[in-house]
Amino acid sequence: KEKINIAIDGPAGAGKSTVAKLVARKLGYVYIDTGAMYRTLTYKAIKSGVDLHDNGSLNQLLSKAKIELTPEGKVFMGSEEVTELIRTDEVTNSVSFVASQSDVRFEMLTRQQEMAKQGGTVMDGRDIGTAVLPNAEVKIFLSATVEERAKRRYEENLAKGYPSDFEQLKQEIALRDKRDSERETAPLKKADDAIEIDTTNLSIDEVVVAILRIVEERS
Ligand code: C5P
Repeated sequence: KEKINIAIDGPAGAGKSTVAKLVARKLGYVYIDTGAMYRTLTYKAIKSGVDLHDNGSLNQLLSKAKIELTPEGKVFMGSEEVTELIRTDEVTNSVSFVASQSDVRFEMLTRQQEMAKQGGTVMDGRDIGTAVLPNAEVKIFLSATVEERAKRRYEENLAKGYPSDFEQLKQEIALRDKRDSERETAPLKKADDAIEIDTTNLSIDEVVVAILRIVEERS
């Protein structure tokens, strides 16, 4: 069977990475977490003292940064493993600024298209169906209410052993979505031909099954 590309977009905390990983495993495809790439650049910029709003400097930093996503889900910047370091609140709450820079986006898009050119990928992000892989055979837009997304993040944090402020989580998620949706270059937006799945009242398994059914129909 021919290997297709599956684009999964949606707002923060809609379950994209969890679902994309499971779909990829089921199909024997490669999961590509594009958010991890923006997070890695953000981490590096903070560490190097580069202005998070400076398109040119960020792009220069990116041009020297080798970002590697391993099949086991680890993230490397050059030889440094950054898997955990890119998930801090500081990075999470700064990444939208870096991701709004046009030269940065162009370079990321180029790298992501290169990764998907053989097919057989499940790629998740914000602009995969609209900009990175406009010809993806399957495009999914995952949504859920901000209330539900904050609840999931809250429970995720608890499971990891630390409590968080629910209202603050909700505000941070809403603010990140606003920045990602209102930026000029490749904003978060459902592609016209994407299938929207509202996951508010669905289990992870139900979402995975729904996507696999769509893949089955389209390939
Ligand atoms: O998916 P994740 O929440 O890890 O993404 C982190 C941030 O990276 C997003 O809030 C967004 O600013 C940026 N991003 C993006 N385009 C993508 C993937 C992520 O702008 N394709």
